[in-house]
Amino acid sequence: MSNSPTKIELTQPDDWHLHIRDGEVMKDVLADTARQFARAIIMPNLKPPVTTVDLAKAYQSRIESNLKLLGVTEFMPLMTLYLTDNTSADEVRKAKDAGIAAFKLYPAGATTNSDAGVSDLKHCHAALEAMQAVGMPLLVHGEVTHADIDIFDREAVFIDTILEPLRKKLPELKIVFEHITTKQAAHYVRDAVTGGKNTIAATITPQHLLMNRNAIFAGGIRPHNYCLPVLKREEHRVALLQAATSGNSRFFLGTDSAPHAKGAKEAACGCAGCYSAFNALGLYAEAFESVGKLDKLEGFASFFGPDFYSLPRNSKKITLVKHAQSIPMELPLGDATIVPLRAGETIAWSLV
Ligand code: DOR
Ligand code: ZN
Repeated sequence: MSNSPTKIELTQPDDWHLHIRDGEVMKDVLADTARQFARAIIMPNLKPPVTTVDLAKAYQSRIESNLKLLGVTEFMPLMTLYLTDNTSADEVRKAKDAGIAAFKLYPAGATTNSDAGVSDLKHCHAALEAMQAVGMPLLVHGEVTHADIDIFDREAVFIDTILEPLRKKLPELKIVFEHITTKQAAHYVRDAVTGGKNTIAATITPQHLLMNRNAIFAGGIRPHNYCLPVLKREEHRVALLQAATSGNSRFFLGTDSAPHAKGAKEAACGCAGCYSAFNALGLYAEAFESVGKLDKLEGFASFFGPDFYSLPRNSKKITLVKHAQSIPMELPLGDATIVPLRAGETIAWSLV
């Protein structure tokens, strides 16, 4: 591959962290993802949350109905369950048998619809032990929630006070540190000692590769650049970009595309979440190109995720071309609209 290609062919990628919501809006957001990705890990933070195998199966069939309406035949949702203080070891084993891909840990109060999340990991010990025993991955929203911890420090404090003790207690538990945002998280995952086992990985969003916290305040408050964990300083963005483009298989693609209607973002207390699904692959290509590492995109986007989850890699190919794509100011979202990431601007790369 030359230093500045204008076209790249990739094995079709998957999105290892995605919110598609439910009801009216699901069809609109699912269309954007299914155009680019073969599979996606579907986050369970609905209202009420997806806490049991039965709820996940019902959610999966609503997703399948929407895919049918869209005429999509090749997209596979990978279902997850929401861990609570009451999740039993039996539910974990049942989930394994039912083909559930993972459990998601939301510390209570950390983000959108996380009120039913875990108040203290000590309540989950039996469930976590069962996950370790059956090889069920735990996906973590890695932020502490105490009001006295500065919002920019919540991820780093989570590593020291929750993640490292958990890994000491359950060293064979497969953990994905989701949407990492700091140098500390990137280095923690890079340097974790696993005895050669596939026990830790991290997903990285496009917004955390492309923007730092100034983007939330550029000339005024920018609610569409607000997500959780919040964007951090430039040194952290640089460390994340370094990790993503390093070819290290512990880092892979997870957009955390998190749709909220325009009115819910542009509000006195606006919701957290960036809608990146519209041209997520273009955003990642732009980030990788910015450091001359487009040749590392395929591993990050298409290989390391399925390898970690012990799923087959996709065989279909996709092509990205360097044709600037204008991003609309708004897109339909059920009866409302949504403002996509980079609305009104262009993205250099688009999917053929
Ligand atoms: O910004 C975010 N939005 N972060 C999350 O962790 C949840 C997500 C959502 O569901 O809206
Ligand atoms: Zn998320």
